[in-house]
Amino acid sequence: MKEKLQPSRRLAKLPPYAFAEIERTKARVLEEGVDLINLSIGDPDLSPPNEVIESLKEALKVKENHRYPMGAGLPALKEEIARWFDKRFGVKLDPSREILIVWGSKDGLSHLPFSLLDEGDISLVPNPSYVVYPNCSLMAGATTVELPLTEENNFLAAPFDLDSTILNKARLLFINYPNNPTSAVATKEYYQKLVSFCQKNDILICSDNAYSELYFDKNNKPPSILEVEGAKEIGIEFHSFSKTFNMTGWRLGFAVGNEEVLQHLATFKENIDSGVFLPVQYAGIQALRLPDEKQDQNRAIFQKRRDVLAEGLRQLGLEVKPCEATFYLWVKTPRQMKSVDFVSFLLEKYGVLGIPGGSLGKHGEGYIRFALTVDVERIEEALNRMEDLPGELDNYLKEKEP
Ligand SMILES: Cc1ncc(COP(=O)(O)O)c(C=O)c1O
Repeated sequence: MKEKLQPSRRLAKLPPYAFAEIERTKARVLEEGVDLINLSIGDPDLSPPNEVIESLKEALKVKENHRYPMGAGLPALKEEIARWFDKRFGVKLDPSREILIVWGSKDGLSHLPFSLLDEGDISLVPNPSYVVYPNCSLMAGATTVELPLTEENNFLAAPFDLDSTILNKARLLFINYPNNPTSAVATKEYYQKLVSFCQKNDILICSDNAYSELYFDKNNKPPSILEVEGAKEIGIEFHSFSKTFNMTGWRLGFAVGNEEVLQHLATFKENIDSGVFLPVQYAGIQALRLPDEKQDQNRAIFQKRRDVLAEGLRQLGLEVKPCEATFYLWVKTPRQMKSVDFVSFLLEKYGVLGIPGGSLGKHGEGYIRFALTVDVERIEEALNRMEDLPGELDNYLKEKEP
């Protein structure tokens, strides 16, 4: 390739696409006419609430709503968010200073490192994780230090014993609970420990709470880190309409917390985008006003899927991490198989697709992730296809023996 057509050094820092081999197998399997059951995508198959769609339609009819939205978000939406946040988490927010509207939380999470980090800074990232945290930290010029999420630490990122040479350079810490991919949920005690540690070490916490409403125990709702005293001094948190209201394509989310940091992010974004389409912001207001029962119906659907898939997989002899939130099941690979091999095996043999844990970070190795984003009938179909899994695995592994 001509030298001037090479990607920037920034882009070249990205690790190779870990899913490429599986993508090739998937393409071949599809070509062969296999009816693929895709449990790899974290994108809900359910519809957004009708009321929200109707509100979007109404807002589309208003001429002014088609102009540049500009700014950090519609004041009316920010006020509604402040009400929702108080009701849900008991945390008061100043709508004009402590809330920023973003194009889905990915927009904010990806641009935060560019707004805060310089060459030589360290970004602490969970591993495995949503790859945006490490990748955008690297592209912003920072170095990443991984915080392993393992069974031993209950999949809770633990920066507490890091060396002072790392802590001196660490400026940003990403956490994500309820967690993608492990489904782990953080307690308020964990957040308390993290906040005091980060206050002591002067590290900003970026909490990604995109799955806060996808919980299955009403008496044990996932907390916000802002519930912890002093968290606003050292933290921001992202929320998303994507998973809560099945609105992934709409691109609407928000950040709350430390006003100075939100201002840095807003300044950066002013040079990137021109705000979220106003009708989408108006529809967001409607979404936040929906009665809790709407969400309960949504949760009940995912809960049923979780129960069927987790139970079915356990009956096939697989070890499934208990899942109290998110729509992901974190499943141990059998017989110490590499995650990419187990995913390929399931894909070739049964036409069922998951994600290799190793593609989400090296500490995800030994696991695969299934997303509960197909209906119960398809999940049952997947389990029926896998009925002979234990025996077929024996044969497959015997064939592989040197
Ligand atoms: C942990 C996590 N954070 C953020 C996002 C992005 O969500 P949004 O649609 O709000 O950009 C995802 C999407 O899969 C995710 O898994």
